[in-house]
Amino acid sequence: MASHFGKLNVYRLPLSSKQTLLAFDQGDLLALDYIHEQQLLQPHSRVLVVNDAFAAVTCGLTEAVKMLTGGVPTLWSDSHIAQQALAHNAQHNGLALADFVPAHKTPQGAFDLMVLKLPKSHRLLKDQVARLLPQLAAGAVIIMPVMVKHLDTPLFVLLESLLGPLTTSLARKKARLVLAAKVEAGDGESPPAQTHRWSVAGLGLTLDHYSGVFSPTKLDQGAQVLLENFPDGNYQHIIDLGCGNGVQAIMAAKKWPQSQVTGVDESCMAVASATNNALANGVGSQCRFITNDCLTDMDPQSADLILCNPPFHQERVMGDQIAMRMFAQAAQVLSADGELWVVGNRHLGYHAKLKRWFKQVQQIGSHPKFVVLKARL
Ligand SMILES: C[S@@+](CC[C@H](N)C(=O)[O-])C[C@H]1O[C@@H](n2cnc3c(N)ncnc32)[C@H](O)[C@@H]1O
Repeated sequence: MASHFGKLNVYRLPLSSKQTLLAFDQGDLLALDYIHEQQLLQPHSRVLVVNDAFAAVTCGLTEAVKMLTGGVPTLWSDSHIAQQALAHNAQHNGLALADFVPAHKTPQGAFDLMVLKLPKSHRLLKDQVARLLPQLAAGAVIIMPVMVKHLDTPLFVLLESLLGPLTTSLARKKARLVLAAKVEAGDGESPPAQTHRWSVAGLGLTLDHYSGVFSPTKLDQGAQVLLENFPDGNYQHIIDLGCGNGVQAIMAAKKWPQSQVTGVDESCMAVASATNNALANGVGSQCRFITNDCLTDMDPQSADLILCNPPFHQERVMGDQIAMRMFAQAAQVLSADGELWVVGNRHLGYHAKLKRWFKQVQQIGSHPKFVVLKARL
């Protein structure tokens, strides 16, 4: 990645020899070049980078921040993979490690410069901005790099309603900067992270969601289909892979009270929500929730049931790469007679794909849109 701050080798995680996508985009480069050209880094500057998926902008600024201020930038993100990428890319380029704050906590200012990469979820964006404004110094500059195709009128109107008058840079290589300035200093008193609470009819569950958690206002249809077709064996160690709000883990803990249940998600907000939800629904001591990229470094052959409602996109990138990694790793972490239960859209063809790792794949139940599959080694 070559910006006016210099050249860095920045990697997308998980590392892969076949990688075709970059760890940064043209918006990131435009933001870095703009900060350099406008000399926005000053000896007193405190710098915050938000939603930087592979920490490219954060790493791009680290050396200059360190030299000028003696400190490091702060990366605020919901993503465990972003945290791992920050560590990897900093180490690989011999940079100081920037601070990382998970999205359900609020970074403490006052920040003079903020690069805000806009999340796809407007709910998350509103929550983040509401908590950030009080953490900005007087005269703080807010830079929002976007690819032009993602900057539609509703998004611009929303940003203006949150941040006041905006200006935009000229476009360069299909990217643009949206710019705002905070005239007055914030008072440092951010509201708590927003949560949304709802009940699942028929299951007796009440679930709280932080703003970045999957399906934040109602039970996902795929989740419901998996719950309606729950396994009926006898299990000791159960994993909810991509646990989101923890609904599958909580229902598993209730159905098999002798079991230990581990929920895994790459979203920090999901893990925090699921932890709270398990406690609130009476199964807190039976469940633990951890941030992880799929099942990386989890003990081989340690689980006898894995439940999985896999994601079908990573922010704006659609595809089944994450689902495939989940299935491959599930095959390692399951015991010899263990079972992987997956729900997915019919058209995704998971039945055939699971056969790469599993000898027996059986369709359970039927639904017009979804299939539930049981896979055994
Ligand atoms: C379709 S949602 C399912 C959520 C929940 N289990 C349910 O049934 O409602 C998929 C979940 O996978 C998580 N996820 C995405 N990428 C992941 C990864 N690399 N490792 C672990 N979890 C991931 C997402 O954050 C999301 O919560």
